[in-house]
Amino acid sequence: MEVLSDRKILDSWAKNVSPWVKAIKNGQIESRRIATDQAIIETITSVSGNKVLDIGCGEGWLVRELLFLGLSATGIDAIEALINKAKELGDGLYKVLEYEKMSSRTIDEKYDIAVCNFSLLGKESVEHIFKIIPSILNDNGYFIIQTLHPNVSCGELPYIDGWREGSWTGFSNEFSDPAPWYFRTIESWSNLFHKHGLKLIQLKEPINLNTGKPASLIMIGHAVIQ
Ligand SMILES: C[S@@+](CC[C@H](N)C(=O)[O-])C[C@H]1O[C@@H](n2cnc3c(N)ncnc32)[C@H](O)[C@@H]1O
Repeated sequence: MEVLSDRKILDSWAKNVSPWVKAIKNGQIESRRIATDQAIIETITSVSGNKVLDIGCGEGWLVRELLFLGLSATGIDAIEALINKAKELGDGLYKVLEYEKMSSRTIDEKYDIAVCNFSLLGKESVEHIFKIIPSILNDNGYFIIQTLHPNVSCGELPYIDGWREGSWTGFSNEFSDPAPWYFRTIESWSNLFHKHGLKLIQLKEPINLNTGKPASLIMIGHAVIQ
């Protein structure tokens, strides 16, 4: 398996289910606690729509929050152990599904909102999601992405798209074999929306008040019917 590849991302996540479930349960990720969890919930509830697809849902915390708020939510993720954990932790519909296998056959319903919360990590898998999104959204639906802020996550490397090695810096030492990820500039993210007929209607930059830097970048795409 190539070290910097979409396949390797899934291989790494499959190895880190247990520490990840603990990290979410115990609120170990400070930026989530103080900024990004609330930011994604506020963004989802700020657009119109009730039926949400959480793509790359992990252990399902966002699905549970959305159900609590009275929305309908379904989660999909490639890692069966994470989906099993999500089912154990609460209600909600869940399905084991790799992004690369998403199609109108495997996703046989339409949604008002599709959301990816820190779950778009790869190259081809992400391109595939953008291709399929217009067919799984209802007319005037929304595609919401929260991701690492490119200006902050770029570090010292050149500000150009490309594979990066992963790191579990700041996480517990139970984590191993970090997943690689594909860095995209803000311009590249924007191009993905426009190329697939989604109008990028809003960018948000939640601030981590402890660092004074953006904790993430949130992008809202709108499937506008002409
Ligand atoms: C950082 S976790 C985020 C989980 C969740 N969205 C959250 O906010 O806690 C990234 C998730 O994306 C999922 N993922 C990454 N690539 C995937 C792919 N190609 N197909 C399906 N799931 C994928 C992983 O299994 C993992 O659960």
